[in-house]
Amino acid sequence: MADKIRVMIVDDIAETREQLRKLLSFDPDIEVVAMAGSGEEALGAINQAFPDVVLMDINLPGMDGIATTAKIVDAIPTVQVIMLSVQGETDYMRRAMMAGARDYLTKPPSADELLDAIHRAYTMRQKMGTGTLTPIAGQPQVATAMTRTTDAKIVTIYSPKGGTGCTTLAVNLAIAMQTLLGTDAKVCLVDTNLQFGDVAIFMRLQATRTLADLAPHVQDMDSDLLRTILVPHTSGVQILVAPATPEDAEVFRDGKVEESGANTRLKAILEFVQHEFDYVIVDTPHQVDDVILAALDVSDLFIVVTRPVIPEIRGVRQFIDLLRKLSYTMDKVSLVINGVDNKRMGIQPEAIERAMMPAMVHIPYDERVALRAANYGEPLILKNARTPIGQAIVNLATEIQKHFMQTLEETVSASEVQKRPGIGRLL
Ligand SMILES: Nc1ncnc2c1ncn2[C@@H]1O[C@H](COP(=O)(O)OP(=O)(O)OP(=O)(O)O)[C@@H](O)[C@H]1O
Ligand SMILES: [Mg+2]
Repeated sequence: MADKIRVMIVDDIAETREQLRKLLSFDPDIEVVAMAGSGEEALGAINQAFPDVVLMDINLPGMDGIATTAKIVDAIPTVQVIMLSVQGETDYMRRAMMAGARDYLTKPPSADELLDAIHRAYTMRQKMGTGTLTPIAGQPQVATAMTRTTDAKIVTIYSPKGGTGCTTLAVNLAIAMQTLLGTDAKVCLVDTNLQFGDVAIFMRLQATRTLADLAPHVQDMDSDLLRTILVPHTSGVQILVAPATPEDAEVFRDGKVEESGANTRLKAILEFVQHEFDYVIVDTPHQVDDVILAALDVSDLFIVVTRPVIPEIRGVRQFIDLLRKLSYTMDKVSLVINGVDNKRMGIQPEAIERAMMPAMVHIPYDERVALRAANYGEPLILKNARTPIGQAIVNLATEIQKHFMQTLEETVSASEVQKRPGIGRLL
C-alpha cells in the first residue's frame, strides 16, 4: 500500500486510546495520526490530522460520539467513522448510523475485527474519491442512505426443511429492525407461507384481511388499498398476514408465473410493498416453488436457516447448490444457524460454516423462551431481548444493516441488476 491509512482515535479514557493505538501499531498499513480525549478536541484536531478513518467512542463526556460524528462527517464527508460502543446500545447505534458513522464495533473489539473494519472503511473512503474539505457533489452519505429515499430492502428468511425456526426469526427480526431503526422507520413483515402461515399466531394478531384479499388487485393496487390489508402490531411493524385457510390461498394458484418461475401475483405484491417501506421481512414456506422463486426474484438478502443437524444441513447444501446452478447472485445469500447448543449433541456451527459459508449469526437453543413465545403469541424479543437468544436476534438485525451499509456503494453504482436466467424452467 503506497499511502498508509490515517487513523484518529477518539476516546475519553487514556488507557483505551493507548490500547487501540498499540493494536493498530501491528498493522504496517495503518498510521495513527491523532488521538483525542473528547469530541471538542477531535474537532479541533481533525483539520490538521486529516484522517481517513476515525475510531469514535460513542460515550464521550460533553459532546458525545454521535454529535461529534455528525460534525466531522459534515465537515469532511469522506472521513469514515467507526463507532465503538458497549453491547446493547442499539438505539445509540441507530443514531450513530443516522449521524453518518460508517460502521460500528462492540467494545472491546478483537484485533481482527478492528483491523478488518478499518481496511473496509478505507476501501469505502477510496471509492469516495479524494478527501477534500468540500462535500463531494452527488456522493450519498450514510445518513441520507439510512433515511428512506429508496425502495425497501427485502430480507427473506427461508429453510428447505420445516420447523427450523424461520417464523420465529422473521417475526423477531422484524421487531428488532423496527426497534433499531426507530419509530419513523417503516418495517413490513410478509407471511408468504400461503397455505399454513402462522405469523399471525406468533404475534397474536386479529386479522380480518389477508394477502388473499390483495391478490385479486395486483393490477390496480394502491397505497390506500394496501393500508386496509396491513395489520399493525404494537411494535410498529405492519404485517401482511397469510390467507386464513389453504382454500383462501387458491387465489394465488391461477397458474400465472413469470419467466423466472415466480408467482406473478405474489411477486407483484412484494414489489409494490417494497415502494412503501424501508425494510420488508419475508417469512416463507419450505418447498422450492413459485412462492420461493418470487421471494428470490425480489430479495436483497436471502437468509437460509439451518439447525445443527445433518438432514437440515444437507437440505441447505442442496438448496445452495441449486442456486449456484441457476447462477443466482450468491452475495445476496446468507446463512443463519439456529438452535445452537454446545451441550447437546449437534454439529459444531463452525464445521457447518466451513462446509458452506460463514453464518451471519448463531442463534442459541432456548426452548423455554422460544416455546413460550410461540404459545403465547408474544415475540420473545419484546420480553426477552436480553437473553442470549434475544441478543442473537438483535445481532442479526445489526448484521443485516451492516451488510447493506457495506454494499451501499455497489448498490448505488450498480447500473444493471443481475438477472437469473430462466430459473423456472429448471424446476
Ligand atoms: N432457537 C430456538 N431454540 C428453541 N426453540 C426454537 C428456537 N427457534 C425456534 N424454536 C421453536 O421451534 C419451533 C418451530 O419454529 P418456527 O415455527 O419458527 O419454525 P418454522 O421453520 O417457521 O416452522 P414451519 O415449518 O412451521 O414453518 C417453535 O416451537 C419454536 O418455538
Ligand atoms: Mg414457519
